[in-house]
Amino acid sequence: MAPVLPKRRRAQDGSAAGARAPSTQPPARFPGVTIYLAEPRMGRSRRAFLTRLALSKGFCVLDEYSSEVTHVVMEQTSAMEAVCWQERQAVAAPSDWTLSKLVNMSWFTESMAAGQPVPVECRHCLEEMLEHGVCEEVETVRCSERYQTMKLFTQIFGVGVKTADRWYQEGLRTLDDLLKQPQKLTQQQKVGLQHHQDLSTPVQRQDAEALQRLVEAAVAQALPGATVMLTGGFRRGKLQGHDVDLLITHPQEGQEAGLLPRVVGCLRNQGLILYHHHQHNHYGDPGHPAWQNSTMDAFEKSFCIFRLPQPPRAAVEGPQRPCQAWKAVRVDLVVTPVSQFPFALLGWTGSKHFERELRWFSRKEKGLWLNSHALFDPEQKKCFRVTSEEDIFRHLGLKYIPPEQRNA
Ligand code: CTP
Ligand code: MN
Ligand code: MN
Repeated sequence: MAPVLPKRRRAQDGSAAGARAPSTQPPARFPGVTIYLAEPRMGRSRRAFLTRLALSKGFCVLDEYSSEVTHVVMEQTSAMEAVCWQERQAVAAPSDWTLSKLVNMSWFTESMAAGQPVPVECRHCLEEMLEHGVCEEVETVRCSERYQTMKLFTQIFGVGVKTADRWYQEGLRTLDDLLKQPQKLTQQQKVGLQHHQDLSTPVQRQDAEALQRLVEAAVAQALPGATVMLTGGFRRGKLQGHDVDLLITHPQEGQEAGLLPRVVGCLRNQGLILYHHHQHNHYGDPGHPAWQNSTMDAFEKSFCIFRLPQPPRAAVEGPQRPCQAWKAVRVDLVVTPVSQFPFALLGWTGSKHFERELRWFSRKEKGLWLNSHALFDPEQKKCFRVTSEEDIFRHLGLKYIPPEQRNA
């Protein structure tokens, strides 16, 4: 995977990179590398020894696995075990686990001998999978009942890994099993299940644009002058997506307050909304659970399922799909005050991986905290004022990266 951001240049921020290590530890010399020694076959004392060795050479080693980890070192671990390990991390922290590399002990010993991290090469990789995309053992796990069931369940609107895992433990395996136990489902999950076929069919760009026009009309009616911007994967130039992400604002700060319920009401009156889940904004509410998850923001939003009328032309296409006058489409509507719009636009354009890298870069290289609301300088205790995405990149010392190049 090609890096999307400039190479980290120097060890200017050792304290942050080693933040969770013991206080006796010298500052990390290689802030781009954070090691986690996974224990299954390593044994505790050997792990402690290897940890001390790496620390003495200036590496950052974390005791707990977290999103900061860049290299997971495993010893005598089979691909099957590694995949199970990964799966457990995925269940514990679904948005974090894919970033780190799984490497074998040869990467570790070569790096220690070199006194610096050596580039990860084929021989260091634990699994053929990392190099070639597939591996027999991994495929076995992929096909395993648990994997298949988790994948099936988490694709349902309103179902996360925890719920999917619980259902699996309870012996549920198929969509039919779920339909037979409606008491286990939230209203959102019921609707998700009801429209599962449509919702698991990719949304096409023309549908996204049609939806944008429908929302624009409702917004214009509810508040003249307010604007609607298509973000998410479609702004990055993707031709298909799993949903449509729309960002709404008004050029005069404060005018956007109370807008979303009016917009949804208007769309509802036209019979365009099958389901919506409204989330109030929670600005200035640091106790809110959303703040503990850096990928979430505090904007007022609505997670909707639209009933999108289909043009008659599309209705006759494809033999498998019977004529359909409409289809269910997931839409995220997000309202932002205009002063925060550039941050919201950057945050909602994605990709998730790009956002994570950009925020990491901002914090570790520039000492600035970036999220979908602001760019904050913790030393000066001030937020930067910006009027465009370009301004944000400029403050980060980066050349503007157009949305099409954010598909990392
Ligand atoms: N996002 C967010 N807060 C959420 C949900 C999403 O900030 N509650 C951000 C994500 O970080 C992502 C962007 O919005 O960068 C788009 O999210 P999503 O629709 O899940 O992904 P897409 O990249 O649009 O992919 P797809 O085409 O499959 O929809
Ligand atoms: Mn999307
Ligand atoms: Mn979305």
